[in-house]
Amino acid sequence: MSSTPPKTFQGWVAQDATSPLTFTSFEPKPFTETDIDVRVSHCGICGTDIHTLRSGWGPADYPCVVGHEIIGTVVCVGSGVSTLASSQASRELKVGDRVGIGAQSMSCLRADCEACADGRENYCARMTGTYNSRYADKSKAHGGFAEFWRGPAHFAFKIPDALPSAEAAPLLCGGVTVFAPLLKHGAGPGKSVGIVGIGGLGHMGILFARALGCARVVAISRSSSKRRDAVEGLGADAFIATDEEKKWARTHARSLDLIICTVDAPDMPLVQYLRLLKVDGTFVQVGAPESPLPPLTAWSLIQKGVKVTGSNIGSPGEIRKMLQLAAEKRVLPWIQQRPMRDINAALADMDAGKARYRYVLSNETELQSKL
Ligand SMILES: NC(=O)c1ccc[n+]([C@@H]2O[C@H](COP(=O)([O-])OP(=O)(O)OC[C@H]3O[C@@H](n4cnc5c(N)ncnc54)[C@H](OP(=O)(O)O)[C@@H]3O)[C@@H](O)[C@H]2O)c1
Ligand SMILES: [Zn+2]
Ligand SMILES: [Zn+2]
Repeated sequence: MSSTPPKTFQGWVAQDATSPLTFTSFEPKPFTETDIDVRVSHCGICGTDIHTLRSGWGPADYPCVVGHEIIGTVVCVGSGVSTLASSQASRELKVGDRVGIGAQSMSCLRADCEACADGRENYCARMTGTYNSRYADKSKAHGGFAEFWRGPAHFAFKIPDALPSAEAAPLLCGGVTVFAPLLKHGAGPGKSVGIVGIGGLGHMGILFARALGCARVVAISRSSSKRRDAVEGLGADAFIATDEEKKWARTHARSLDLIICTVDAPDMPLVQYLRLLKVDGTFVQVGAPESPLPPLTAWSLIQKGVKVTGSNIGSPGEIRKMLQLAAEKRVLPWIQQRPMRDINAALADMDAGKARYRYVLSNETELQSKL
């Protein structure tokens, strides 16, 4: 062990579904030999933080510290990390390394778990989320809107030197959540891909579809207000404004091989989105509305043999692949940095849809402003 791990951390704690977060101390999980402690420098705000804080998917386990697009520096390494059986890459983690942690901080890692044994820890039935979740010993998992993060080294990833910390943060959850289904469903040369919802996840979806060499990338948004950013900035080939273009589903019918939908509103025009798919096309829902999706007509599936599926974050292997591609092709999310002490205002702005396209809260700005 590199130094004595503290018993309490300080961070932005939610006590209930409506009060502002308060900066106070909280208890991290007990430090075990396969854990690391990380001094958090940056943490992005993901839509999931908002759903969780307001108990949108069901009652949250307050008090809780959200934030799962974490970047920081390793300050403490458990004595068992260098011989960790579960992950060769994590064995190399050292004090001083710059690492990232995403939305998952543990899974069962058992040989008899099909998901874990296959390197698909993100589908383990016993997964521990980075916050609002419990480890096997029943201790609470706490996220990155704090000074430190503690958790299993298996779920911490070295950040390539080519990626600046603030831009790297959103890749850890939002980035891999769009990258993993793009990769799995064959996005690449010759493929036409649609990205629905141009927010945090969606704008990274356009960037990754481009980086993977897709023939055509179509941004699908409600209004034309993001058209310029999407086409001139992010590199989309076309843009559909669903609230403004009459008969858009008919005009663009059968034009896409794959759609990644990041929308988190339950009233999305799902049947119309499916019309955009070619025969055998695939629709992947990654946005997670707080109430059920709209009903589907059987014909929207039958007529073209389309597939409707979902995708949950990404595995450690996919996170490493994504970070490598992002470093090689300079996939850098569009971010707005704010000091972490502005967290309550930033959460309100995120909820109001003002982010262009990801807020990243920084403890460094905090430190600099004190100098
Ligand atoms: N599957 C996973 O593993 C996973 C991982 C991370 C996040 N998520 C979920 O993904 C969702 C999106 O997260 P995010 O961080 O990207 O949020 P975000 O930045 O707020 O983006 C969501 C986008 O959805 C669109 N949208 C919002 N309200 C809408 C409405 N009423 N009708 C149609 N479209 C609407 C907007 O795009 P336009 O303005 O372009 O229409 C908005 O920018 C959240 O539910 C989050 O919990 C899932
Ligand atoms: Zn997330
Ligand atoms: Zn498992």
